Amino acid sequence: MMRELTQVCGVNTAPVIIGSRLTAVTATRCLSLCGGSAPSSVLIIFDGAVARSAVEPLVQALAAAQPRLIVHRLQVEASERAKVGEEWLRLQRDAIAMGVDRGALLIAVGGGVLTDLGGFVAASLLRGIAWAAIPTTLLGMVDAALGGKTGINVRLADGRLAKNMSGAFWPPRLVSSDVSLLSTLPIRELRAGLAECLKHALLADRSLAECLAGAAADARAADADAQSRLVDLVARSAQVKLDIVESDPREDGRRMLLNLGHTFGHAIEGLVPDEMLHGEAVAVGLVAAAAASVEAGLMSPKEADSVRQLVEALGLPAQLPSPLGLELLIRVAGSDKKRRGGAWTLVLPRSGGGAEIVRGADERLLRVGFAAVGAD
Ligand SMILES: NC(=O)c1ccc[n+]([C@@H]2O[C@H](COP(=O)([O-])OP(=O)(O)OC[C@H]3O[C@@H](n4cnc5c(N)ncnc54)[C@H](O)[C@@H]3O)[C@@H](O)[C@H]2O)c1
Repeated sequence: MMRELTQVCGVNTAPVIIGSRLTAVTATRCLSLCGGSAPSSVLIIFDGAVARSAVEPLVQALAAAQPRLIVHRLQVEASERAKVGEEWLRLQRDAIAMGVDRGALLIAVGGGVLTDLGGFVAASLLRGIAWAAIPTTLLGMVDAALGGKTGINVRLADGRLAKNMSGAFWPPRLVSSDVSLLSTLPIRELRAGLAECLKHALLADRSLAECLAGAAADARAADADAQSRLVDLVARSAQVKLDIVESDPREDGRRMLLNLGHTFGHAIEGLVPDEMLHGEAVAVGLVAAAAASVEAGLMSPKEADSVRQLVEALGLPAQLPSPLGLELLIRVAGSDKKRRGGAWTLVLPRSGGGAEIVRGADERLLRVGFAAVGAD
């Protein structure tokens, strides 16, 4: 069972394959990504959590497909702390010492930390080499590995991490999403990925929301029906992002729709980084955005309530994890505002589906949103 989508990022087009037990197919595809011919060598940058399930089988499959191929491996800790300049430099230093040249293929295997960091190494090493992404989290499959954005966090002078502040648009030449790899993903991480799927459902595919509830059980089940439902879910969710990226590859306009729930979510995540995963903060952010949408006259209270119910039905938080002050949240959310030229830009869900980019939004909308999720 395999689906194939296409990622179009400006002039770059790449296949996105989604299926179960894709190792052999992925290895074969990887061998033709460097201008149609085999790469001079392969550099796998990977998360130790998937060394046995994804990396060892891939190395074997590459060796079976091309016995003389040189395959290097570099392991990375999958954490925001490690997604920084020091690690990015260490990987390049090691890659150069291994003799990686411009004909090499980099393969990033892991969640969003790995595809962001690995992709940015590919973007910068030798002024850019070809790369492939093998996302191993649900969030990676439906979001982080798609759209061509790569990057790292920047450690500020006071020790804080400024998230994703350095990077490049450098799309992979292949995205291979093997849903069988989700069987080992902790349930909390899986649910965090479901928050992004729900965002996509609200943006463009409302009936997708009904398919999400069984995903956690399906990820643990090895039978063909469960794997096929997961393939369908990942493909539908990925398609929503791919369509939006194709229409606006460099986030000059429409791609901002993908920030639905994120202005609220980023502020919450920034204040309680150890209590919430990104996807959990996005879930709370979706509830906040729906409340703000009612205030803006874009949605009825009943529809906003249904967004809250969808979030709760997935076992995701719909409220702040601990009391946070409204003023503090507004101040932290202000860093998003600064990035967008001094005015609030909010993405709010619309009645009947879809979302609206509200530029120059009144701060009152943020207050209503944060208050609805428990800010005081
Ligand atoms: N580039 C983009 O467009 C984009 C979009 C969204 C998010 N992101 C980035 O993605 C990152 C978050 O990604 P994520 O949620 O995938 O997290 P992650 O990479 O941090 O992985 C989450 C956890 O799951 C573990 N893990 C990964 N796959 C596993 C598997 N199959 N089995 C068992 N454990 C596994 C990891 O070791 C880690 O502990 C953030 O850094 C965020 O900035 C990027």
